[in-house]
Amino acid sequence: MARSTKQVGLSLGADICWPIAYESLFEALTRDGLKIGKNTYDFALERVTIEPFSLHQPVKYDVVIDRLTHWYSTSREWIKKAILMDDLYVYNNPWSLQSNEKHTSYAAMLRLGLPVPETWMLPPKAYDPSDDLEATLIKYARMFSLDEIGDKIGYPFFMKPYHGGGWKGVTKIDNAQELHRAYDASGTEIMNLQAAVLPHDFFVRNVGLGPQVRHVNYDPGAPLHDRYRQDINFLDEVDQQTLKDMTLTINAFFGWDFNSCEALRQNGNWHPIDFANACPDSQVTSLHYHFPWLIKANLRWSLFCAATDRAMRKNMDWPPFYKIADSDRSPREKLTEYAKIAHKRFETEKFRRFCKNQLKDLDELAYDFFGSEKLHDAIRQKVEALFPHHEHDEFTQLFWDRIQLWREQEGKFGDKDGF
Ligand SMILES: Nc1ncnc2c1ncn2[C@@H]1O[C@H](COP(=O)(O)OP(=O)(O)OP(=O)(O)O)[C@@H](O)[C@H]1O
Ligand SMILES: [Mg+2]
Repeated sequence: MARSTKQVGLSLGADICWPIAYESLFEALTRDGLKIGKNTYDFALERVTIEPFSLHQPVKYDVVIDRLTHWYSTSREWIKKAILMDDLYVYNNPWSLQSNEKHTSYAAMLRLGLPVPETWMLPPKAYDPSDDLEATLIKYARMFSLDEIGDKIGYPFFMKPYHGGGWKGVTKIDNAQELHRAYDASGTEIMNLQAAVLPHDFFVRNVGLGPQVRHVNYDPGAPLHDRYRQDINFLDEVDQQTLKDMTLTINAFFGWDFNSCEALRQNGNWHPIDFANACPDSQVTSLHYHFPWLIKANLRWSLFCAATDRAMRKNMDWPPFYKIADSDRSPREKLTEYAKIAHKRFETEKFRRFCKNQLKDLDELAYDFFGSEKLHDAIRQKVEALFPHHEHDEFTQLFWDRIQLWREQEGKFGDKDGF
């Protein structure tokens, strides 16, 4: 009978609310340790600090939940070192995050046969000075006609940066004049032009965390606090399965434990349009009703990774996906096969058993926590950081009420079958 301690670290930026919820439930859930077979594990949790480090400096963490890698290079290099030298498990794979931008994700999923809309990339309108710039452009940059490209794609379409997020630099283009205007204004940013999936009857944001997927009905036209709609059971089984398979395929392909995949439904087909979001919004002010799901999913997956010494997949290993892509199966059959790889890589059945056997108390603890003063205070802290003073009471109440609705509609029934 061995007893040892697993260390979990949170690598955080401006996050306020979700770490408070995560930490509170983590502590309650692991207070007496978790017994797995002959071993008992205690769990320690702390926030990772930013400091100088030697390559030889050992890393004590077993698992790090990282929210900084996509923009803070020091932490990213520390994490990559820790994976290489200390067998750290981190979500998400930092090499994949660093190198696979939106545009690469479009290419990969198109290759696997998913209906990604027609997408073009343009050379930038302007450049920062660099030594070889002029010689390169004079020799190789071909003049091109924006009008011709616009006609080929067909209006309307979207101009959007080939990487990044937060709607930065995204413009809907309805005609050639707007195309010229948007391109002239795009500066040094490298842009994609992507055929619009319009009209569509559904816009769904699918949040994946390990093998867990939540479908959120999304309204991009609403103010930030209403974009994630509170609907549940708005998709039939077939659509749910398609979106789940699609999300898990994308996440397994890129080694992303935590990512969100946006898909639009047109004529019964789901078109993924934005699925390189490997640091998904986790704030209570955006997720509100869905916030408890995210916290629970995050706890389950991180504890599973820590308790079972889940090995970090350092390389992407794409050939098994390509083998299926090149088979003569139908697109839907291929998706089912990709999802099987995803389930294997995410160890879905082992994870389900772990949740059922080791995390039995989570439902009840979460139900209580999401009705607690501590949660109310965490919401208030986040609201105070984002909203003007005169709106603090109103929005704290709004998000609190939505979470209470979750407790009534979902929380008190718990998660069937493990997760
Ligand atoms: N091909 C498309 N068809 C229809 N709408 C689109 C398309 N591409 C982008 N949009 C619209 O533009 C919005 C922003 O585009 P996109 O999601 O690609 O950018 P983003 O900066 O990553 O946004 P976010 O951070 O919210 O995910 C989408 O939420 C959607 O409303
Ligand atoms: Mg998006």
